[in-house]
Amino acid sequence: LCRHFSSSAVRNVVIKNVTIIGGGQMGAGIAQVAAATGHSVTLVDTSDDILKTAVKGIEGSLKRVVKKKFADKPEAGEEFIQKILQNVSTSTDSGSAAQRSDLVLEAIVENLKIKQDIFHQLDKVAPEHTIFASNTSSLPITDIASTTSRLDRFGGLHFFNPVPMMKLVEVVATSATSKETFDSLLNFSKVLGKTPVSCKDTPGFIVNRLLVPYLVEAVRLHERGHGSKEDVDIAMKLGAGHPMGPFELADYVGLDTIKFIIDGWSAKDPSNPLFAPIEMLNKLVAEGKLGKKTGEGFYKYK
Ligand code: NAI
Repeated sequence: LCRHFSSSAVRNVVIKNVTIIGGGQMGAGIAQVAAATGHSVTLVDTSDDILKTAVKGIEGSLKRVVKKKFADKPEAGEEFIQKILQNVSTSTDSGSAAQRSDLVLEAIVENLKIKQDIFHQLDKVAPEHTIFASNTSSLPITDIASTTSRLDRFGGLHFFNPVPMMKLVEVVATSATSKETFDSLLNFSKVLGKTPVSCKDTPGFIVNRLLVPYLVEAVRLHERGHGSKEDVDIAMKLGAGHPMGPFELADYVGLDTIKFIIDGWSAKDPSNPLFAPIEMLNKLVAEGKLGKKTGEGFYKYK
């Protein structure tokens, strides 16, 4: 990662100081990757306890990298970790963090109003040149940006979970995003060592627009009695070469997340049969069986 930084990034980086709002699963992962590629990162969340947990999580993830990469040189491994952690600071004050940032990337709860409020506030205090971006999976970037006066400097940067492992970033341009902003976001993604693809601001961008209907179509097939969960998963792994079957993947993503996305699309386009309600999914979510994170979803994990 460091070598990648010194060979290409030093000349090209426009984005050097990054504020990441939200230190959860995604925010902490993005912070780790940005810090490892030489950016100065400020991670913002609502409490110091959450931030402590986030940094611990980053350290744990780096330890796993080091275990493989520096198997015979534990001291060099420790130095590697400390160097990256030095690039991460934390704050509960998003305003003061944004004042020193080239990019403010938001990865908080998937709620339009809360995202709009944060960007509205930060728009008043962030420097002129600062680019704003959201990691939202399902909300229109245009709607999130609408409370700011920097529509040309606003875009989407959609990462995938787990961020340190997953190579893709969907870079999203709204109809108002300037070419300069879009190119900066593309370049930033490359400097992180990721492969960016260009997306329009349409529901689900590319990956989720194709993946979510596929996942719920698997549930519908099973509901009709046309295949067991186990057989569907085996079939897609061995027949389509997928690393996980749709039921395993749905449990990994979280059934609440899938329901939230499909319900949102259904509200906007109720006649689209791809977005019609799925009884089995709704029942599991109502029972709190949300997948791996709760110990049970389509499968049991305890
Ligand atoms: P998470 O629940 O793990 O983390 C969200 C974090 O934001 C929490 O630590 C919370 O304390 C913090 N937060 C909430 N309100 C805040 C505020 N006003 N100011 C500062 N921090 C605040 O959520 P996760 O999974 O990391 O998702 C975050 C965003 O990323 C969502 O928009 C989601 O749609 C998107 N996303 C999620 C993916 C996933 O697989 N989990 C994949 C790609 C995008």
